[in-house]
Amino acid sequence: MHTAVGVFDSGVGGLTVVAALRRLNPELPIRYIADGAWFPYGERSPEEIEERSLLLADALIAEGCAPIVVACNTASSSALDRLRERFEVPIVGMEPPLKPAVERTRTGKVAVLATPSTARGERLARLQDAYGGGVEVTTVPMPGLADLVESGHVAGERVEQLLHRTLGPLADSGIDEVALGCTHYGFLRATFDSMLDELLGTDVDVIDPAEPVARRALQQVEAHGIAVPPVERGAPVIAATTGDPARFAEAVARLRADGADLPVLDILPLPLALPAPAGLPGERGR
Ligand code: DGL
Repeated sequence: MHTAVGVFDSGVGGLTVVAALRRLNPELPIRYIADGAWFPYGERSPEEIEERSLLLADALIAEGCAPIVVACNTASSSALDRLRERFEVPIVGMEPPLKPAVERTRTGKVAVLATPSTARGERLARLQDAYGGGVEVTTVPMPGLADLVESGHVAGERVEQLLHRTLGPLADSGIDEVALGCTHYGFLRATFDSMLDELLGTDVDVIDPAEPVARRALQQVEAHGIAVPPVERGAPVIAATTGDPARFAEAVARLRADGADLPVLDILPLPLALPAPAGLPGERGR
C-alpha cells in the first residue's frame, strides 16, 4: 500500500501538474516537495540538479509515495535516467511539448521556451532530432522568468519587460506554436495569451504539458496496480519546501489571487527523511 503520488519541483512550478492531477482525480492523495533552497534549477549544473532530484525522490519514496512525478523540465532533463536507474517505483518525467507543437504548426515555425539549463541540455537536443524534422525550431532560454513566477509575479511590468527582451528578437518570425518547457511558465498563461500574438506577429498557440503529464502519472498508477487510498474530495495536498515556508505560502497566495486554480495546500515541515539543506554546498536564498 502506498500513501500518495509524490511530486517535486524546484518551487511552485510543479503545482501546475498537481492542479491538473487534482482536476483529473479530485480524490488523489498527493505529496509535494518544492526545493526552494536550491531554486532556481535552471541556473544550476546538471550534477547539482541530479543530486537534488535523487534526494527529493528518495524523501518522497521514504514517505510511501508512488509514482514519483518529476514536475520539472529542468530536473527531468538532468536526472530522469539516474532516477529510473536508482528507484524501483515508476518515475514520470516531463519534457517540452515539442512533438505536439511540430504537429500543429501551420507556419512550420515553433519555439520552445525553457530555463537556460533545459535549453542547453542534451535531452532537448535529442527531442529536436526526433521530432523537429522539417520544422524550424527556435529554443529560447528565459533566464529570470521562473524567478518572477516563484515570487508570485505572473503579470505586470517586470514580466512584460522580460518577455519583450527575450522574445523581441523573434518579432514577425511567423512562429505560431510555443511549447512551454518549464512548469513555472504554465502560470503565465493569461500573460502569454495577451502578449504573444502581438509580439510574434501571428496567431500563437501556447502548449502547456501539465495535463498530459498528469494523465501519464494516473496511467502509471493504473498500469502498476499502485494502491493509493483516496482522500476526501478537495482534501489538502500535503506540501513541504526546503526553502522558506512563509515565502512559499505567499507566492501560492499571489498566484491564486491572480487567478491560478490551485488545490488547497497543507504546508508542513520537511519530511524527516529529507535532510535539512543548511550547510550543503550551493544553498541559496535563505
Ligand atoms: N519548474 C522548473 C522547470 O520546469 C524550473 C524552474 C527553475 O529554474 O528552478 O524547468
